[in-house]
Amino acid sequence: MQYQDLLIETHGKVAVIRLNRPKAMNALNDNMMNELGEALYAFDKDPAVNVIVLTGSEKAFAAGADIAAMVNYDYQETHTNNYIGRNWEHILNVRKPVIGAVAGYCLGGGCELAMMCDFLVAADSAKFGQPEIKVGVTPGAGGTQRLPRAIGKSKAMDMLLTTRMIDAAEAERTGLVSRVIPAEKLMEEVVAIAQQIAEMPVSVAIQIKDAVNQAFETTLSQGVRYERRYFHAGFGTPAQREGMNAFLEKRKPNFEGL
Ligand code: CAA
Repeated sequence: MQYQDLLIETHGKVAVIRLNRPKAMNALNDNMMNELGEALYAFDKDPAVNVIVLTGSEKAFAAGADIAAMVNYDYQETHTNNYIGRNWEHILNVRKPVIGAVAGYCLGGGCELAMMCDFLVAADSAKFGQPEIKVGVTPGAGGTQRLPRAIGKSKAMDMLLTTRMIDAAEAERTGLVSRVIPAEKLMEEVVAIAQQIAEMPVSVAIQIKDAVNQAFETTLSQGVRYERRYFHAGFGTPAQREGMNAFLEKRKPNFEGL
């Protein structure tokens, strides 16, 4: 599949989707978000793919929603036509793991899109920020909700109100990203991480993702009950039989197709 604003690669069971509007720092416009939804759904249902990586360029994961496209929008255009809601959140419907690999600027809607990934790995060049206030609007793709959950209220308010960018080290320290990698090694290492996950049973990866996401939507006891149902239902599945027998037989498990 060919896209205008995305580049696609596959590495075994890992699919890499690269945001690609280099002249505009990967500013996120309607076409790119429509294409991103299409690509994500295509890989989610592709049995040859177990893990998806979402990335940008060395300069920018994405510098936010496309300001040139938005500048003359009015309430009618945004509310009635459901701007953001119409095509930004397809990523949340993807059942397989999605890793965000962030280098360079990751700002505004770019940071919000990154935070919709399951986890983030940053290049040491990454800079995260929510500068929407400087262009006269609030964040519109979850920045006021996911950022405080990711890094706590004080840091989030600081970033949202002052537009201060945080670097990769601060992003790791605050828990926004899981690892920081030298920029020149980012994709090699993220693909290796994704391949490690892709060797696990995809059925269980899907369940873990679904259960972890419950942690942000429900109470602790309901979340634990939700997890327990997956755990009990796992017994007798091919993945459980293969995983536990491989351990006892001191061999590497083979979760191909599981
Ligand atoms: N929208 C549209 N175009 C953008 C853009 C954006 N968000 N960010 C960068 N660009 C364009 C610039 O206009 C410029 O285009 P031209 O060469 O045609 O002039 C090109 O990308 C390169 O950018 P700069 O010349 O500005 O590069 P720089 O290195 O000097 O600065 C930057 C880089 C700090 C990322 C700066 O471009 C910047 O501040 N960008 C805007 C960041 C921003 O405000 N993001 C929030 C957008 S609102 C939003 O995202 C709403 C939401 O919550 C959904």
